Amino acid sequence: MNDPIKDLKEDVGQVVNKESVNDGQMEPAARPALWKLFGAAFVLSGCSPSFYYHAARRRLITAVAFYTTNRIVRRMEQMDKDKDQLGQQLIRASRLAELGEMAAGFAHEINNPLQIIKNEQTLIEMLTAELKQNGELKASENLTDIEDSFKQINLQISRCAQITQAILKFGRKTESVWQDVELQSFMPEVVAMVSKKASVNGIAITQHLSDRSVHVHVDPSQLQQVFLNLFNNAIDAVIERHGGGGGEISVETVSTNNSSVSIQVRDNGCGISPENLKKIFSPFFTTKPVGKGTGLGLSVCFGIINNMGGSMQVSSDLGSGTTFTLTLPAGKS
Ligand SMILES: Nc1ncnc2c1ncn2[C@@H]1O[C@H](COP(=O)(O)OP(=O)(O)O)[C@@H](O)[C@H]1O
Ligand SMILES: [Mg+2]
Repeated sequence: MNDPIKDLKEDVGQVVNKESVNDGQMEPAARPALWKLFGAAFVLSGCSPSFYYHAARRRLITAVAFYTTNRIVRRMEQMDKDKDQLGQQLIRASRLAELGEMAAGFAHEINNPLQIIKNEQTLIEMLTAELKQNGELKASENLTDIEDSFKQINLQISRCAQITQAILKFGRKTESVWQDVELQSFMPEVVAMVSKKASVNGIAITQHLSDRSVHVHVDPSQLQQVFLNLFNNAIDAVIERHGGGGGEISVETVSTNNSSVSIQVRDNGCGISPENLKKIFSPFFTTKPVGKGTGLGLSVCFGIINNMGGSMQVSSDLGSGTTFTLTLPAGKS
């Protein structure tokens, strides 16, 4: 025979179970409401099963429908928010790419007149030296000042040329160019690009490179990009922990063999929590404020190193520092 109370119990049980299976957990706020309803239905159906059973069942269905609709609406709202956020991050990423292209174009345009200025300046210097040699220009305090000015102009032109070259190297979008790159000459060049930023923040960057010449087979401009990202992240982490002094960053060749070379970049910065450590290579993961971090650096580095046939690992202690280990294909030494 039909047992209305048993049926009702089963209905409620099914609803509760289904929620548990679908979502792992039932929303705590909904639990007492459902059980209250079930209790009421139980009492009512005890009075007159045939009449109250249907009424209670209707109420139960209405309550469950209401509760489920609420959940769906909340989830849709969350999905909308996530979509918006992802859209904004993509816009920022593409703006960054555009900026990179603009910077490369700008550097290229500046580079040509800069070369002309450099040639003209060398010519003026040569002619002045000749005039001096022929006795047409007498030694004087003014002449010494003019010569000092020439030196200063020369120095500043070289600085500008270095900056434009660095931007060009960084921003140029070219096919990968694989070469054997010697670490002993490559690494100081990259370190020089961030040493100013490091020193103004009281950070020392030390290089412990192998004494004998070590080559890696890579695309040099892409590898430069990877190290710049790692150094910039390390600088940020060190500033976060130490403020303006006491920071240390080191880059070291830790092992070499015929097929691979391992390089470590260490810092004594703020470190990364175990939870965040799992996410740092994901695109758009950042702990930095809006406008400072894009969360793209490490994911791009990871892609570049993988593409080179190498690997990239990280270990970190929250509050004491982080080590990135790159293993790269060895070149011919
Ligand atoms: N050396 C480091 N020390 C501490 N945290 C780091 C370090 N390098 C990366 N991170 C963490 O990884 C996150 C992702 O880095 P990245 O992909 O370069 O993006 P972004 O620098 O734009 O935040 C950073 O926001 C930071 O939380
Ligand atoms: Mg970064």
